[in-house]
Amino acid sequence: MRAAALLLAGCGGSAASASTPAPAESAEETIKETQSETVSAETSAAEQTEADTSTAAEAPAGTNPEGSSDTLVLYFSRTGEQYVVGVIDKGNTAIVAEMIAEGTGADLFEILPADDHYPTTYNELTDVARQEQNDNARPAYSGELPDLGGYSTIFIGAPVWWGDWPMIMYTVFENNDFSGKTLIPFSTHEGSGLAGFDRKLEDACPGAEVGKGLAVKGSDAQNEQEKVRESVGSWLAELGI
Ligand SMILES: Cc1cc2nc3c(=O)[nH]c(=O)nc-3n(C[C@H](O)[C@H](O)[C@H](O)COP(=O)(O)O)c2cc1C
Repeated sequence: MRAAALLLAGCGGSAASASTPAPAESAEETIKETQSETVSAETSAAEQTEADTSTAAEAPAGTNPEGSSDTLVLYFSRTGEQYVVGVIDKGNTAIVAEMIAEGTGADLFEILPADDHYPTTYNELTDVARQEQNDNARPAYSGELPDLGGYSTIFIGAPVWWGDWPMIMYTVFENNDFSGKTLIPFSTHEGSGLAGFDRKLEDACPGAEVGKGLAVKGSDAQNEQEKVRESVGSWLAELGI
């Protein structure tokens, strides 16, 4: 597990070397090869520190102005330099979140860090994320979630970070009452798939029912949007939503 984690971080090169992610093919291959170990790394203890500061958060994607849906899409996503895809203006998970919202008419809400301490360079971001996981951190998010009272179904998505939900998502799970809701996880990743998001969501949100999740490769979300839109559509149909 540790080896897998190190390999993943190493895919972007060491902090002392290149600041760009490794070439797509080799990077993907490396993650694929280590996927099972990476997923098993999920169970590693998570911890956290506060890390350094960085970019200003973008404005929240916002909620549906109508606010009339009983379905909500909550997501966390990063722009800047990302694995395989390089520097991106819209996060991979954000792209999938918007497709789900479009497909369901759901309201959309982006989880943003309270103080955006996440670097926009990939290698530095992996270090900060790893430290948060090692420290079992609960990084604060900005503002408050929409009133969950009116939502019966909530899609919850994030990038896989070190074989797990980013720690800020555990802050969301623990600071809000999701009991009685149907929660449907989705991930973007570069090899780890859903990385146990569903099982971890069940553990973190007792009293909620967790539906079948969807895993999308981040590079597909960025570069193969029609294919991903189809996958999202089939998944929503399967869910009956
Ligand atoms: C800190 C960090 C850790 C990551 N860990 C994994 C991992 O364990 N498994 C994996 O498949 N991809 C991993 N990735 C790749 C991201 O999951 C992937 O690029 C994702 O699509 C990024 O989504 P975003 O643009 O919404 O943040 C990691 C990326 C970062 C930045």
